[in-house]
Amino acid sequence: MIRLSGITKEFPSPSGERLRVLVGVDLELSEGGSIAIQGPSGSGKSTLLGILAGLEQPTLGTVEISGVNLGELSERDLAKFRARKQGFVFQAFHLLQHFSALQNVTIGAEIAGLKEPLRSAREALARVDLADRLEHLPGQLSGGECQRVAIARAIVARPAVLLCDEPTGSLDPANAARVFDLLLDLHQDLGTTLVLVTHDPALSARMDRRMRLERGRVVEG
Ligand SMILES: Nc1ncnc2c1ncn2[C@@H]1O[C@H](COP(=O)(O)OP(=O)(O)O)[C@@H](O)[C@H]1O
Ligand SMILES: [Mg+2]
Repeated sequence: MIRLSGITKEFPSPSGERLRVLVGVDLELSEGGSIAIQGPSGSGKSTLLGILAGLEQPTLGTVEISGVNLGELSERDLAKFRARKQGFVFQAFHLLQHFSALQNVTIGAEIAGLKEPLRSAREALARVDLADRLEHLPGQLSGGECQRVAIARAIVARPAVLLCDEPTGSLDPANAARVFDLLLDLHQDLGTTLVLVTHDPALSARMDRRMRLERGRVVEG
């Protein structure tokens, strides 16, 4: 179970007032489920995902994943939890440019503490249909291929939760469809809970549930 309770996030602003980006967000999601987070730009979607990921602390409220309250973990335990239990996919791929596809995924496997990082990385890349691109650098790959490397990195440790922030946002329609189908397959095959931020109504429709944020508040779902 993923449980967000009363999540409020404020940032300091130059004028001295506090900027409220999320206001009292509650969410419960059962393990193995999928949810789309929708909403206009600036509504707080990425901030919410960052909080779910433990990358940011909420100002108020709690995040609980599989019975673990992220706010109660030490910095070190939180890093370990993230590496083992969560995978991330971002719109801009975030690959290391001077490392090959295989190295990018292997580094992820090492951070997660896998026993055979190289072998796991090869398997993950085969899974996203890139077994013939292992030695390519990100600059030598298409956008869709880069995103598939990022997905391989995200799933290499078979995380319980896959958090995706507009993963198809910078891809052409054909590649976007392929990446999305791949995410759905992985979600189903690995039983990974899928949290997907997207503007695309067609993609949202294929999730179990949808929630909509506006100005930091849940307005639907
Ligand atoms: N680190 C930060 N410091 C100050 N304001 C931020 C920070 N991160 C996000 N914001 C503000 O929070 C609001 C929501 O941002 P974000 O979560 O990125 O929205 P979305 O992903 O829905 O487009 C925006 O107005 C943004 O400017
Ligand atoms: Mg965003």
